[in-house]
Amino acid sequence: MAGLIPKDFIQDLIARADIYSVVDSRVRLKKAGRNYQACCPFHSEKSPSFTVAPDKQFYHCFGCGAHGNALDFIMEYDGLEFPDAVEELASELGLEVPREAPKHGGKTRDRAEIADDFELMEQVTRFFSRQLREHANSPKVIEYLKGRGLSGEVVKAFGIGYAPDQWDGALRQFGGSKQKEEQLLALKVITENEKGRRFDFFRDRIMFPIRDRRGRVVGFGGRVMDSDQGPKYLNSPETRLFHKGRELYGFHEMKSQERQPEQVFIVEGYMDVVALAQHGVHNAVAALGTAATPDHLQLLFRQTSRVVCCFDGDRAGRDAAWRAMENALPLLKDGQDLRFLFLPDGEDPDSIVRKEGKDGFLQRAAQSVSLRRYFFDHLAEQADLTQDAGRAALVASAKPLIEKMPSEFYRQLLLEELARRVGRDVSQLEKMIAKPSRPMPQGSEDKQKYTPIVRAMGLLLQHPWLAHKVPVNDALAQLKLEGAKVFVAMHRQASARELTTAAMLEGWRGTRHEEALRRLAQWDHQVLEENVEREFYETYTFLIDRYLEQRYEELQALPKEQLTRERLQEMEQLLRALKRTTNPAN
Ligand code: UTP
Ligand code: MN
Repeated sequence: MAGLIPKDFIQDLIARADIYSVVDSRVRLKKAGRNYQACCPFHSEKSPSFTVAPDKQFYHCFGCGAHGNALDFIMEYDGLEFPDAVEELASELGLEVPREAPKHGGKTRDRAEIADDFELMEQVTRFFSRQLREHANSPKVIEYLKGRGLSGEVVKAFGIGYAPDQWDGALRQFGGSKQKEEQLLALKVITENEKGRRFDFFRDRIMFPIRDRRGRVVGFGGRVMDSDQGPKYLNSPETRLFHKGRELYGFHEMKSQERQPEQVFIVEGYMDVVALAQHGVHNAVAALGTAATPDHLQLLFRQTSRVVCCFDGDRAGRDAAWRAMENALPLLKDGQDLRFLFLPDGEDPDSIVRKEGKDGFLQRAAQSVSLRRYFFDHLAEQADLTQDAGRAALVASAKPLIEKMPSEFYRQLLLEELARRVGRDVSQLEKMIAKPSRPMPQGSEDKQKYTPIVRAMGLLLQHPWLAHKVPVNDALAQLKLEGAKVFVAMHRQASARELTTAAMLEGWRGTRHEEALRRLAQWDHQVLEENVEREFYETYTFLIDRYLEQRYEELQALPKEQLTRERLQEMEQLLRALKRTTNPAN
């Protein structure tokens, strides 16, 4: 991976970015007073509760609680990890992301090397698509694709190509130097046998480029045209660019067609994704030969509130569906709908959409099975519910799974269904089935106590200009109140330069205070704009007083012989200062 992105740069990026344009280029915003509004892209709603505050450089949804700064929005909306979101925002602003040299050893690769890998993969992709048009086998390949019902347009949209039936097609084209050859090998465009001979990894195959979330080619899948030529599909192995459990085939292509799909289908194969797109169903992605991983599901639920696992009716399909469900249980939130669509044995989405068209496929999709039904139908297959033993077995097998679910909504739903199936009361079952030990962040949201120090932090965070109204006082860090050190650090942070709420928060990303500060950034403090400064000033003086008192008590508690002249003087000063601040006449 690349070196670390310097913190200063990230701060700078947030300072330069405009949350309004970042959001508005993705979700059309409407002016509402000083703020902007839209229907929330992160949950489904009819009236807008999603707000963007340009002064705070912050967004917040009153419906689902989604919130954050420009980087958070890009992470959530585009489905990017933090470093990629930084890259994305930087490129929108026309900035280069600097990288710090790694601290230990020289293992990490720099930005230029990574960019060079992506560039090479793109060139290889173009090479394969040129071969599709120009190679001597071109007529045969095009015949095959036509036979599978694909138009030139879809072939182009997915960048489908052809790897020539030569040992050194790509190798000759790109392996101009020793260094290039090593790079090709590392990216598994070529491979090496035991004797050290190097040759093309993909030969005489239809090539499906696999793009990451930002649309960069990270690997390939290659399909044979004649069934006797080795495995049907050959996939790039894991490389420094390609991590199977993270990528979803077709994700980027889907996002370029539909930014906010109402639902997303997870299908099994490359051809399923492509054939569905050919028929106008653009919201399908494929997990690459694995069951949908938690990463996959999390990514998809950021794009949509309904994910439909669409698998073949065979054994492998059923296993993949169950594993997807197990992976989803710990992360499903209220309002997220996971459904299952089983096709008749021997059919896949590709064959169905070709036979029945878009409408036929969507009609079947409308009949998909809910998580609740699939969950119990599957478990009940192994239990005879006419017998006590069978009912007990169902409770026993459902218990550990329900216990994994943080969502109270789903928990109740499944408990009610379990109660119905085994003929018991929900309340009885509730006693037996534990709640997950890690509480949902959403439910526990307002356990925060708004102590003076928390109020001071909240006001400062929401109105960073307050920092300049009172001096930074390092002594306050000694206050024996929770949050005192954080408050002083925030005060120092905000007085050093002009910051927005968003920029202040950015400085705390990845620290243990991040969550609490995020919540404070959205806390409804109910103080009128014109009173904010006074409120902050009063809270601040209150803290100063607490500090003076604390110091006075510390000195007072000292044994007599330790009370030096200086200390006695200090005590006197403390008393005077306390009187002054508590006497409104001064
Ligand atoms: P399928 O055999 O269902 O492929 O495998 P498919 O997409 O329907 O292929 P067509 O329609 O015959 O062209 C589903 C997925 O499993 C992986 C691939 O990702 C494929 O798309 N697979 C399958 C492999 O990786 N290798 C194989 O040999 C077969
Ligand atoms: Mn198929």
